[in-house]
Order: sequence, then structure tokens, then C-alpha cells
Amino acid sequence: MTRSGAVPADVHRARHRSLWSDGVEQPEREPLRGDLSCDVAVVGGGITGLTVALLLAEEGLSVVLVEQHRLVAGTSGRTTAKVTSQHHLTYARLLLSRGPQGPATYGAAMEASKERVVELADGIDCDLRRRPAYLYATRTPERLLVEVEARAARGAGLPASLTDDVPVPFATKGALRFDDQVELHPVRYLVGLAERFERAGGRIFEHTRATDVEEDSTHCRVRTEQGALRAGQVVVATLLPFLDRGAHFARAYPSTSYVVTARVRGDLPDAMLHAAAPPTHSIRAVPFGDTELLMVLGESHHTGSGKATPARYERLAAFATDHWDVVSFEHRWSAQDFTSDDGVPYIGAVNWRSRRVHVATGYKKWGMTAGTLAATLITGAIVGRANPWARFFAADRLHPLAEGVRFATENGKVGLRFVAGRIASGRGDVADLAPGEAAVLSDGGERVAAYRDPAGVAHVVSATCTHLGCAVAWNAAETTWDCPCHGSRFAPDGDVLEGPATVPLAPR
Ligand code: FES
Repeated sequence: MTRSGAVPADVHRARHRSLWSDGVEQPEREPLRGDLSCDVAVVGGGITGLTVALLLAEEGLSVVLVEQHRLVAGTSGRTTAKVTSQHHLTYARLLLSRGPQGPATYGAAMEASKERVVELADGIDCDLRRRPAYLYATRTPERLLVEVEARAARGAGLPASLTDDVPVPFATKGALRFDDQVELHPVRYLVGLAERFERAGGRIFEHTRATDVEEDSTHCRVRTEQGALRAGQVVVATLLPFLDRGAHFARAYPSTSYVVTARVRGDLPDAMLHAAAPPTHSIRAVPFGDTELLMVLGESHHTGSGKATPARYERLAAFATDHWDVVSFEHRWSAQDFTSDDGVPYIGAVNWRSRRVHVATGYKKWGMTAGTLAATLITGAIVGRANPWARFFAADRLHPLAEGVRFATENGKVGLRFVAGRIASGRGDVADLAPGEAAVLSDGGERVAAYRDPAGVAHVVSATCTHLGCAVAWNAAETTWDCPCHGSRFAPDGDVLEGPATVPLAPR
């Protein structure tokens, strides 16, 4: 029982969808049918894809964007939509790994990207407002982390200060405050960019899954399931590139986070807040209809680890009800993002040979600024405008000192997961699954992923991920099959929800 008398399990009565797509209509675009030619083909309809498409179209280029599902249906439509240069504990680590230029470059790039969002949002009704961002400590050792981060951030020229006045209804050990940060409604913002892109002559095709990009000496060819795009350059903006040629699947690591919104009695924070250490919660207030809701994100874990259970929502709800007078929970959803080996996004040409194919990934859950930065840097590369930050974020960079330890650790775990998936599959039979149950079973020596839906219908597909062959794991919180190796996600019928896989799980 909580302050308001609500019990955390009430959170399961909340709408199981992102607040950002609740009540926002956008026209459905037709799939691509046949072949087209353009200057630039963009794959992916999230913040990176839509922003780079608009910037390139406004440079006078012919641009075609394809999206495998609907625009802004992926991580960009599931974010907390904090447009900040405060990215958890980033600047002290960069100072150590890259020297003073590290935090200075990262900070300047993210501050500029925040302001770029403000410029682009001009004329779009997207609840944009300026707010301070706080990184708060709840224990004394965390306070030390925050102080070190504050020194590094101030040294990088950021609007950072230490404060003991933190606008949350629980005790803290102070916080690092960044002034003049921004928050907005990401779906309305990006739908506005999409409309502006189309007015500038750009074309969008939804329900169009890209499956490969071929290159010759002058052009690229984006293969999709329904046709092909012949383009001078290609931007792959698919959260994690579905192309393996840059090996970003082995250099960025997926995690899943959960979000709830709640109607509360009393004051909400007039700031964006993030805990410095676990249990890591990200908090803000969100305009919704004629009121404001509390939004809390947290409970992050490695994607496909088997830790995705409905209890994640209950723990978030318990945190909310412990500290606010919750009347009701309104929404719950989850989101996935990738973190690079060294904590810096990968942005630019996919590798040293493929200079016509550009990628962006590894935003570490700070995609509003990082995705906008990616769009700016890639636009500069395509139109031939040099950017002094490009080398720092280059997608083909190698920094063995900064990246080596994490690369070895994470890929060692991927190897273990691959082997574990090969030898582990449950005994039992699909017929034994109760409605709502799922399991990876052995069927004649083959691993199958079986789920019986609430209506009693069994859905049985191969349990072998079509990317590189790891065994998928059940996500009981979202009713999906998730791959622990590189984060591909599949619907119960095997359809691809998120890559790098581009091929559905085979039906069985
Ligand atoms: Fe790479 Fe599944 S996502 S093996």
C-alpha cells in the first residue's frame, strides 16, 4: 500500500502504449512499390532519419526516406524527450579517456544540437519548454561522483553548478544542475519535421523494410522488400545499423528501459531529473491534455536477458507512489537503446571503404540531442561542409584504450550467450503452454520459440535469431522475442520489430 492507497500492480491497468503516441494522429504513407532514384536515401523514420532527411532536402537534394513500420514508432517515440547536454555521468569519463578535448568537444556538440532542436521546432506545436536538468545523488559516494562530473562539465564550458536544492520530494545528497536545458513532445516535433520535409519535396514510404545496401563506384542501391532506391548516398538511421560492414553490432550494446506515467495530486517537478547511481530513475513532468503527468523511467537491463518481466513496471510504480500522491497510472511502455564501447555515439561513414554509406548509433539513451547531432554531421559530410566535431564522433574510429575493455567484456558475454542458447532449450510441448505462457522448446532437435496467446492460439517460430544465430529470449513485459546478442526484437509471429535483423523468425 502506498501514500495514495494505490497498489503498484494498478500500473497494469494503465494504457500499454507510449504517452507520445496517445492522441497524436499522423497520415499513413504508402509503401514503396517499384524502383526510384534520388540523391540521398534515408533508412529509418526516427529522430536521426527525419532530421537528416529534412536538412538535406533544405540543401536542395532529392531525398527519399523509407521506414519499416510507421514514422516515430521506435525509440524516438518512446523516449523521455529530454533535449539536454547533461548525459548522466559522461564528462569525467571523457576527461580520463580523451583528455580535456573530450568533454569540451562532446559538450559543445550536444549544446549546439539542443539549440538546433529549438530552431527546428520553431512553428511546431510540441510543448517545448526550457527547464534545468539535475543529476542527483542519494548517497554520499554518489555525491563524490557528481562533484567530479561537475568539475569536468564546468571545465568543458557547460552551464553546470552544484546544488543542494533539488526539486524532488525525497532526501538527496545534492545534485549537478545544468541550466537552460529543453524538453518537448517528441512525436509532435518529429511529425512536424516530416511534414516540413514533404513540403520541401521529400518523399516518405512507410511499411518498407530495407534489407541491404549495395555500392559501386558512383552509386548505392538500397534493396527493400518491395523495390529498390538508387541513390548517390545512403543514411542508415535504424537505431543500430542493419548493415554489418561497420561491425557496430559488436561495438554497441542494447539495453531496455521502462516508463510509466501517473496522474498525481500535488506538485510535480519543474525540472528534469536523473539519478546518478542505481536504482537509476529519470523523472520529469509532461503536459497531457489539460493536465500534467509524472513520468518515471528506469529498471534498465540488457535486452534479451530474460529480465523483462511485468514486475519492472510494478517497481517503477512503487517508486512513484512512494514519493508522490498517485491518483492513477496512465501509460506504461518500454524502449531500447544502444551504448557504444566508449560512451560516444558512432556517427559518419560506416567504414573506411564505404564513404557513401553513413550510419549513426550508440546514443546511450540521449537520442534527442545525439540524433540531431548525427543529422547535422551527416548532412555536412554529404554536402561537403567540414565539421570540426566529425572526427571525434566518427563511426569508423578506433580508440583501443577507451573502447578495448568494454569491447572485450561485452563480446565475451555475447559468445557465452550464443553458446548458452545453443545448449539450453526447455523440455515440454507447445500443448502444455497455458494462455499467456511462452517458452523456448526443443522440437526434433530444433529450438522453437512458442507462445500461446490469451485467446489460446499457439504461435511457434524458430528460436534462432536471423541476424547471427543466437537464441531469442521471451520478453514477458512486452510479449516479444528479444535477442540477447545484439538486440533484435521480434513479434510472437516472428515479424521483425527492431533490427539489426531484417528477416523474420521462420514459422514452424
Ligand atoms: Fe545479432 Fe540476434 S541480433 S544474433
